[in-house]
Amino acid sequence: MYKYLKIHRSPKLNGEVEISGAKNAALPLIASSILSKNEVNFTNVPEVADVKTLLKLLKNLGCEFEFQNGNLKIDTSNINNTTAVYEIVKTMRASILVLGPLLARFGKCKVSLPGGCAIGARPVDLHLKALKLMGADIKIQNGYINASGKLKGCDIVFDKITVTGTENIIMAASMAKGKTRIINAAKEPEVTQLCNVLKEAGIEIEGIGSDEIIINGTEGELLKFKNTSIIPDRIEAGTYLAAGAITNSKITLNNVITEHLEGILVKFREMGFSFEEKANSLTILPAKKINPVTIITTEYPGFPTDMQAQFMAIATQAEGVSIIEERLFENRFMHVPELNRLNANISINSKTATIIGKSKLIGADVMATDLRASSALVLAGLIAKGQTNVHRIYHLFRGYEKLIEKFTKIGAKMELLSEERP
Ligand code: EPZ
Repeated sequence: MYKYLKIHRSPKLNGEVEISGAKNAALPLIASSILSKNEVNFTNVPEVADVKTLLKLLKNLGCEFEFQNGNLKIDTSNINNTTAVYEIVKTMRASILVLGPLLARFGKCKVSLPGGCAIGARPVDLHLKALKLMGADIKIQNGYINASGKLKGCDIVFDKITVTGTENIIMAASMAKGKTRIINAAKEPEVTQLCNVLKEAGIEIEGIGSDEIIINGTEGELLKFKNTSIIPDRIEAGTYLAAGAITNSKITLNNVITEHLEGILVKFREMGFSFEEKANSLTILPAKKINPVTIITTEYPGFPTDMQAQFMAIATQAEGVSIIEERLFENRFMHVPELNRLNANISINSKTATIIGKSKLIGADVMATDLRASSALVLAGLIAKGQTNVHRIYHLFRGYEKLIEKFTKIGAKMELLSEERP
């Protein structure tokens, strides 16, 4: 049976949302457990589809794990297979994150190319180019990356900033021989947490959080990991703040690191919203009038591409013309025709979307196309007149833990229903 989410126009939201651990921090950390000598313990791990998919891949390699209530124990001591198969990799492209660790530990591995993705070609050429520089022999055959060789540290300059590319090389460099210097490294908080965990596991790393990271490898010696709690999910947090904004309600988020949200908060403030900050909680306060906004997506600490669709939904309620330029991915506007089905007034010219507000949204059937686009449709459904049915809702559950529970708790009206194959 296929599931869809029926969302009723909801009254003002209010109350508190507990933010979960970050999916995009958990994924590289789970991959890094391949470098571990001991059993690895992670807490605050979000129970979302993408995490379960990566664990399925690790199980397929021979790892054992226990995962319940956000506590994850992984034992990689019995890995007996170094092939990451297409059947799993095709469902979750971040599976590419096992490439660096498998190659560093075993000197040989086969990882399926991730293949295309809805939001763009998303090649992994920069990952492969960097591994070749470190001495790997890389051959592409039948859609698989065949990698082998002993890795040696060296200087690597990324032509483009790549989050998982940086993470793959940090993990590969951790067990390579000698020093690796990554220049033009990604600075996302999820990259920083990976560096901190590896440093605590005994790796000498400098430049953590900067765009130049230096890693001294152990030359094949496995690492001893310490227990780690996954950092809060800044994109989940931004999405619930967007729910407060689009319904112009006051809601509080618990378990957030406000510093990770600065690039997003700036834009909320420009739109007229304000915030109350406490130790690790953040409250969004309603705006007297929602102002239009101009957004250009950039790498951290700029405005994140993963919040672009959510802000587009809010911008339909702004009084005036908003402009959103998507600079990271070539096809990340698939939520636009769906929002227009809800009576939004958005046009696209190449990489730039123009949103004319304020539109009175009217409920309709819409289709989710990727993880963040689906969250934008949920946000729009909260204020659209009548009911909005979001189909292909599986996209949403890849990255949002207990979404219906969390939204219902703050007053949103939604239910998960089944339908025959659409
Ligand atoms: C990470 O993807 C995130 N995923 C994405 O979040 C996020 O949108 C993206 O970074 C940008 O912030 C995870 O962390 C698991 P990139 P990643 O490599 O690493 C090009 C979500 O919603 N590029 O930083 O795959 C690429 O095409 C997901 O949770 C190359 O050309 O993104 C893109 O245009 C969606 N060659 C740009 O770089 C390469 O070898 C940035 O991609 C690698 C990337």
